[in-house]
Parts: sequence; C-alpha cells; structure tokens
Amino acid sequence: MCGIVGYVGGRPALDVVVEGLARLEYRGYDSAGVAVLADGKLATAKRAGKLVNLRGALAEEPPPAGTLGMGHTRWATHGPPNDRNAHPHVDCTGAVAVIHNGIIENFAELRAELEDSGHGLASDTDTEAVAHLLEDELKAVGGLAGTGGAGGGLAEAMRRVCRRLDGAFTLVAMHTGDPDLVVGARRNSPLVVGVGEGENFLASDVAAFIAHTRDAIELGQDQVVELRAGGVTITDFEGRPAEVQEYHVDWDVSAAEKGGYDYFMLKEIAEQPRAVADTLLGRIGADGRLRLDEMRIPDRELREVDKIIIVACGTSYHAGLIAKYAIEHWAGLPCEVELASEFRYRDPILSPATLVIAISQSGETMDALMAVRHAREQKAKLLGICNVNGSTLPRECDGVLYTHAGPEIAVASTKAFLTQLVAVYLIALYIAQVRGTKWGDEVFAMVQLLERMPEKVAKVLETMEPVRELARSLAGERCVLFLGRHVGFPVALEGALKLKELAYMHAEGFAAGELKHGPIALIEEGLPVVVIVPPRARDVLHDKIVSNIQEIRARGARTIVIAEDGDESVVPYADTLIGVPAVPTLLQPLVTTVPLQVFACELATAKGHDVDQPRNLAKSVTVE
Ligand code: G6P
Repeated sequence: MCGIVGYVGGRPALDVVVEGLARLEYRGYDSAGVAVLADGKLATAKRAGKLVNLRGALAEEPPPAGTLGMGHTRWATHGPPNDRNAHPHVDCTGAVAVIHNGIIENFAELRAELEDSGHGLASDTDTEAVAHLLEDELKAVGGLAGTGGAGGGLAEAMRRVCRRLDGAFTLVAMHTGDPDLVVGARRNSPLVVGVGEGENFLASDVAAFIAHTRDAIELGQDQVVELRAGGVTITDFEGRPAEVQEYHVDWDVSAAEKGGYDYFMLKEIAEQPRAVADTLLGRIGADGRLRLDEMRIPDRELREVDKIIIVACGTSYHAGLIAKYAIEHWAGLPCEVELASEFRYRDPILSPATLVIAISQSGETMDALMAVRHAREQKAKLLGICNVNGSTLPRECDGVLYTHAGPEIAVASTKAFLTQLVAVYLIALYIAQVRGTKWGDEVFAMVQLLERMPEKVAKVLETMEPVRELARSLAGERCVLFLGRHVGFPVALEGALKLKELAYMHAEGFAAGELKHGPIALIEEGLPVVVIVPPRARDVLHDKIVSNIQEIRARGARTIVIAEDGDESVVPYADTLIGVPAVPTLLQPLVTTVPLQVFACELATAKGHDVDQPRNLAKSVTVE
C-alpha cells in the first residue's frame, strides 16, 4: 500500500530511487512519482499508472542530476489515481516536497485551516496538506538547516507537523534549504532505514535498497529520522533521541528478482518446497521435540491458555481457518478465527488466558495491527506469525514465529501461505506437547510427516501441466465454484480468492455440505466446479464429498476433482481429475492448494492479466 523510497549519498539519486520503486511496485501501482534536489531546486515528475509511464516521462524529459531524491508508488486512497494526485506533493513555494503512505484522518480539518490561511491546494489528497503544514512550520522554527535533536530545520518542522496528524502515516520530505537532508516520519505504516557507506536509504521495505546494503534500522512508532549522507539521527515526535534496533537482512538481491521466470508469482509458487523446508528448519530438536524458543511465551503461560483467537486478513485468514482444525484436534483448545477487520469493531470476550494469534505475511496489514492492539488492551497474550523481519507486527506481540518464505513480491500470496500453514501446525503441535494433549511420540510422528511435506509439494509441482492446460481451456468462463469439507473448505475459499484476485472472475468457495442449502441453485450445465476431496482414510468425510460430486454432476456441473493419488472412487464422477500425494487430512492443504494457485495463475495469464500486479490490489494494505 504505497511504496516509499528516499536516498542521500554520492550516486545519481534518480537511478537509485527509480530502481527502488521498481522493487516496491507490488505495494501499489496507481501512479508513480519522484523528486530530486539539484542545484538548490526541487525537480519533480509524476505519472498516473504503473512505473513504466513515469520511466517514459523521465526518458523524455530527464530532471537535472542530483544526489538527494525520493520516490513514491501509489495505491490511491484520497482522490482518483491521476497525475495531479500522484506524489510527491509540494507546498506553495515549491521548496518542500512530500510523499506519504497511509491515511491522515484529520486531513479535512487541516485542509480547511490551510485554505483559510491562504494556501492553495492543487490535489485531492490528504498528503498535500502535509507539504503546506511543513511550509508553515519551517517558518515557525525559523531556519532552514538544522541537525539532530530538537534543533531547527526540516526535521523539527516534521516533528511539529506529525504531532498534529491523526491516523496512520509514513512521510518523507525534502527541502531546498537543506540539500543534504531527507526526513522521514513514521506512525503505524512501515519505514526502514538502509545504512550504507557515505549514503543512506529510506524505504517501505528493505527490497528497495537491498542491492546497495543489507544493514537496516527498524524505525519504531512515532519516530522521525534525519537522513544525511554521513549519518542517521532518529528521535521521537518530541525530539528526544530514540532507541532503535539495527539488523542485518538475511537474503540478498537475487531473492527479490524474477530469476528467469516471467512473473514473481511463478517463481514463488516454484519456491514452495524450499520455503516449507526453511520454515521447519531449526524447530525440531535432536530428541524429536519441538523447540519454538522465539515464541517468547513461557510454557507455563501456554498451559494456562483456555482459548485461542486467530485474526488475519485475505489469504492469511484462510491459513487461520485451517489452523482452527489443527489447534482443536491436536492442542484440544477452543479456537475462533476472525477477520481482523471485524474483530476490531466488536466486543470479543478476551482475558489474560486468551491467546490471540495474528497471522500476517507482511506484518504491516493495518486491520491485523489494529486487531492486535484491541486484544492487547484486553490483556490477551499475543503471538504473531509473520514473514517480514523488522515489520510492525512482531514488535507489537509478546512472541513471534517467523515463516521463512523469503521475500514474497507477487501481490497474490502463495509461498507465504504454505509457510503460514507450517507455522500453525508447529504451534498447534507445540501447544499439544506443552499441555500434554498428545503423547510425545504422537507429536513426533506428526512432525516427521511434516518434514516430508517439502518433497510432497515438489511432487505436486512436477505434475502441473494438465492443470495449466485445463486453466487455459477455461479462460472464457464467467464463473467457477470451489467446494471442500473440513480443511478442504478453507482451501476452496483460497482457490476462489486466487481466481478472483488474478483472473477477475466470479469465483466462490463453499463448504460442500452447505451446497444443498442454497448454492446448489447456481449449478447449471457446464459450470466448472472444483472439488477438494479429503483423503480416503477419512472415510465418512470422503464418502460424503463423493456424494456431493454426484449431486452437482447430476445437475450438469463440469467437475474438476482434486483427490489423493490412487483414489479410484472419484474417477467415475470427475470430468478432470487432479491427483495429489497422499498425506494426513490436516496436512492436506499443503498439497491441495498448489494446483489451485497454478490454475488461477495460468488462467489469468491466458486472459492477458499481469498476475504480479492485479488491478485495484496492493500487497501490503496499510490502511483500515
Ligand atoms: C492484501 C493482499 C493479500 C493478503 C492480505 C493480507 O489484501 O492482496 O494477498 O493475503 O493483504 O496480507 P498480510 O500481509 O497481512 O498477510
């Protein structure tokens, strides 16, 4: 949700900034813009649409070369995605430029105040108000240059402005009066500092500067950073020096590149066996017992937990739905799963004995963060499952279990989802181990099966050509339904979500047993219906879904059946049969989701869509 880059150093800033934006485009692609400071003047360029449009404009009319710059890729909130609303925004004098991620909630009031005092605002955005507020505050702090602490200059003006803003924001600003300074500010939305030699970077995500440095500083809540070529100063909004956390990024630039694939999504699907294996790594002791030390919630407290609530959004929510089955079955604890955006605005019954697990690939999804804060207020214990080191979620939880999927760039989540499943299985089994709801050897047996999952996922990937062919043949369809039971139900929801996100098709996932209570009316001649069949070992569940397949087939549906290899019972009722390796029921989503990812990706590609950047979406949604 909006990507931000800032640079100060010895290189041509424009190149660094545009290259950074290319790596952040997954965050939003409604428009892109840059500002460079050269010869004491600010030069800006911005264009609606993807970065390619801005690149075209820059090629036609290159701005003067400078070594101080910033850039923005937008996911529109206030005002339509046109050139006028694209960032950067400037003040009345053209001396201050600002870019922003988030929403300034009191912007209408600020805007009215600015207009009353004679400022002319040129865009519909909330961001522009900040440029004009900075203009006023720069006058008030009396002086242009200023370093560190509560001194004058742009940093102090920024602190004063931030104290007036409500909502979530990351802001980056430059000013002609201080040609060696980029100032950033952060409340709720992400902002990371990249520490180089004689150069420094600011970005929404380390991917933007990973080609230049892997040393980063995580900014905390309500902090302002002064970035100069020779150093970085960080304070709170009052100007007091802030405590910061430095870290080293453990992946390199190749992880953030397509590596020969046409799309990041294809690469990320292919990386799943490795991602699953990496997420298991180091978590199983030599004695076969699980070790999740990083969870930082003592076993004693885990024994006292009497209820688990999972909060998440989008694909991560589907991982949460699957977690419920595992937690109830293995850990014997009641488990509720809730969309983070809904949880926040009702009155959930929580206590210190409630464990709230927030699942978020990015660790920045505002709905998930707000849900966590809501739970914190009610004194629940908080555990995050997160893929991005240095993001906000882990800081706000008591403990965290990182998934090790590596950077996920395609907007539609694939490898992060599979690793989230591994994380929830590990947590459920760990709680079972701690609480003694399963014998040690039962936990160990399941862990051993988990360790074989990378190989099973790899096997699924080897057999995807018929799925791709099927997808291409369905590119002209208007609607596809997905049915599942038990953990197959969230998989059906995920299959439908992938198709909606990527192919812009009407797709719905249903619990197969619910079909007869309404959705069966949708079945008509030739309608493609994907059915996820549980393993044969779950005979009652299995047989019930085989009956469901017959019911829809009798009404004309074209059945696409995903079942374990060798399941002969479904053969007579499957127009297309997709085999997956036999695994225990609870682990089956790790293998049944993969064909649905491939299916959606291929179908969307056949329709000519950019699967990495589906329309209207953004990967990291940092607004509520
Ligand atoms: C956005 C993305 C989805 C993602 C969801 C949750 O809507 O488009 O792909 O599942 O956010 O993201 P998170 O980072 O919290 O897992």
